[in-house]
Amino acid sequence: MASAVIVYDSWYGCTKAVADEIARGLSGEGRIPTVVAHVKDTSPEQLLRHDVIVIGSPCHFGAPTPRIRDLLQKMRTLDLRGKRLAFFDTCFSSDRGRVTARMETMLRNRNPFVSPPFLGLSVMVEETRGPVAPGEMGKARDLGRTIRTSLLLSP
Ligand SMILES: Cc1cc2nc3c(=O)[nH]c(=O)nc-3n(C[C@H](O)[C@H](O)[C@H](O)COP(=O)(O)O)c2cc1C
Repeated sequence: MASAVIVYDSWYGCTKAVADEIARGLSGEGRIPTVVAHVKDTSPEQLLRHDVIVIGSPCHFGAPTPRIRDLLQKMRTLDLRGKRLAFFDTCFSSDRGRVTARMETMLRNRNPFVSPPFLGLSVMVEETRGPVAPGEMGKARDLGRTIRTSLLLSP
């Protein structure tokens, strides 16, 4: 059976809350085994045990956090063919999409062993310490559901 992991970094809890919400949508009440892990508690090898790998980071100075960047660097040389990958970030509206695009580029660059397509989501926060802006959490749950649907539809 397919399984999923959502790995995240978070300073103030917003990105963790988004990770948990994506997990709720993805698991569909346990139909797809889904784990949520802080980036410091996992490794590329552990991530590769799953069919779906979702990676999330807060936007810090327009970039993923150093821990997430380090993870992506390590994953760059791995054979990710057949894996479903998705990225998400939390940020202000001025930086919408920036970190997600950066994470995709970091992983894809010079790695011939990545299957397209990627899914990405930017979730808006109101202040540096949160909260997540109204209506944004629903998008996180929808991303999880979209991934679950794609798994259930695949042969
Ligand atoms: C050191 C630092 C730098 C940041 N730089 C940016 C930035 O360049 N662009 C942006 O949209 N948000 C920036 N933020 C705000 C973060 O987006 C916000 O703190 C984050 O989404 C909250 O997520 P968390 O609760 O998971 O830490 C920054 C926050 C910190 C702490």
